[in-house]
Amino acid sequence: MEAEAGTPALLEATDLHKSYGSKQVLTGVTLSIRRGQVKAMLGPSGSGKSTALRLINLLERADKGTITLDGESLGTVARGGREVPASERVLAKQRQEVGMVFQHFNLFPHLTAVRNVMSGLTTVRRISRAEARERAMAMLERVGLGQFADSYPAELSGGQQQRVAIARALVMEPKLMLFDEPTSALDPELVGEVLRVMESLARDGMTMLVVTHETSFARRVADEVMLFDSGAIVEQQPPELFFENPLHERTKEFLRHVH
Ligand SMILES: Nc1ncnc2c1ncn2[C@@H]1O[C@H](COP(=O)(O)OP(=O)(O)OP(=O)(O)O)[C@@H](O)[C@H]1O
Ligand SMILES: [Mg+2]
Repeated sequence: MEAEAGTPALLEATDLHKSYGSKQVLTGVTLSIRRGQVKAMLGPSGSGKSTALRLINLLERADKGTITLDGESLGTVARGGREVPASERVLAKQRQEVGMVFQHFNLFPHLTAVRNVMSGLTTVRRISRAEARERAMAMLERVGLGQFADSYPAELSGGQQQRVAIARALVMEPKLMLFDEPTSALDPELVGEVLRVMESLARDGMTMLVVTHETSFARRVADEVMLFDSGAIVEQQPPELFFENPLHERTKEFLRHVH
């Protein structure tokens, strides 16, 4: 899982700022992830974790700061020697490079699992239905749900629905996967199956940024763990150090609450 030191960053977010009205939500977030690396993001409610992911996934624009993915700047295009905001068409294309899995899976209730997974391929990518179905089936197998391809979301457990959502993101072949508390809405006995799928993705070399409260998952799977607080990254360390020997008082205090 550990990406080689010295490999260039796949994701580079620099000095991201975001306010809603007079409320400063991100106050200068800088983070980078190398190819194949897994980073876990911990932090109290309201600290700006989801906002940071939404900026990286281009669901919202930063007020200030830059994001590059695989060397390409996201959300802007170069024109006449300057970076200007990208058009919706360019944004839509750039969004495809980043997969996102939310707490609430938002599957289409009227579509079977396989059709949920196919939908991005046929509508956005314009891939033939036969080819899309084949790729979607392979992805459902990947998350252990091959035999549920023709089930509707209402016929699946929360854990199974979340695995369909993961397959739906993966089938688009993203360079980076973002997870925003993917297990928080699940019954405790269903958390493990989703974490196991995520762990196997990490093992296969997927680059991942995971907002989670699952500290044992972060400890086991993440290459680095960061603490987010009040719109900024307070601390970022390999898991052994983060959990056993944190540098900052804020981290110690946070860990006292989650343990
Ligand atoms: N669209 C919005 N308009 C106004 N305020 C917002 C908006 N989105 C987020 N906020 C505010 O920004 C702050 C950070 O929110 P965010 O959802 O990023 O936090 P979070 O760390 O993900 O919290 P949680 O752990 O509860 O998911 C919160 O105070 C929230 O109320
Ligand atoms: Mg959140």
